[in-house]
Amino acid sequence: MRIAHSADELRRQLKPLRSHQTIAFVPTMGCLHAGHMNLIEKAGELADIVVVSIYVNPLQFGTGEDLDAYPRTFDVDAALCAGAGVNFLFYPATLYPKSGPKITLKATRLSNCLCGASRPGHFDGVITVVNILFNIIQPDFAVFGEKDWQQLTIIRRMVKDLQMPVEIIGSEIIREADGLAMSSRNRYLSNTDHSQALALSQALTAMQQSALAGETSVGVLKHIAQSIFDTASIQTEYLDVRSANSLKARHILDKQPARAFVAARVGNARLIDNMPLELNISPEPATCTEDSQ
Ligand code: PAF
Repeated sequence: MRIAHSADELRRQLKPLRSHQTIAFVPTMGCLHAGHMNLIEKAGELADIVVVSIYVNPLQFGTGEDLDAYPRTFDVDAALCAGAGVNFLFYPATLYPKSGPKITLKATRLSNCLCGASRPGHFDGVITVVNILFNIIQPDFAVFGEKDWQQLTIIRRMVKDLQMPVEIIGSEIIREADGLAMSSRNRYLSNTDHSQALALSQALTAMQQSALAGETSVGVLKHIAQSIFDTASIQTEYLDVRSANSLKARHILDKQPARAFVAARVGNARLIDNMPLELNISPEPATCTEDSQ
């Protein structure tokens, strides 16, 4: 595995390979866990070369957020990447000019809800850095986790609207055995916090099961989840059901794919999770048309 510390160095390393090998890219902020390793594994299945970046992007952290406290574990991360067959590890000191960036990207309406509503400017910072990383690496594929569903949706849209020649691949949420979605921020949780945090996946699972059992009212589903949060003494930042692709608010479940989303502060960690809500809709009975007679 080669480690590059600057954009120029990485460009030089990748240049001779581009003509005959495909590149899959996994952007990260480090503190790698099984969720990241799953993204890296997927990248390895997609392309000849796997590039991973580790960069804690200051532009996506708001005032009072955990930029300084964000765990930095480079040596362990590098060993994990090497063990997983990563070919290039990009570990820049910074990706912005000294005086800060003068040009940034602005996310669309997709960023007005969920995490975007409580973290103003967060997704502008995410798409700006992802765009910079794509410009440096020019990957054929880029793999993102579905835990950050809103991020994945916005990045898909960025690639579409800006006609970027990269295929975005979403990868399923990896959970601890007890259901907690893997996150670098789980490190902030004490044992007590961890037990309390299980309410997130439990509440989403309860919504999912009620939907499968035929409940179509989002109000009722939210009520079911809220009682789990009340029991666990968790105050959610948001608990929402939205269309999976457009992120439009939903009041009723129907055939259009929908997802339940939650964010909550537990101890010192801000946690997010989401799950698809599927109705158990039986196929419509076949109608007799002239063609089928
Ligand atoms: O999901 C993350 O870890 C970050 O938002 C990303 C995509 C690496 C951009 O900094």
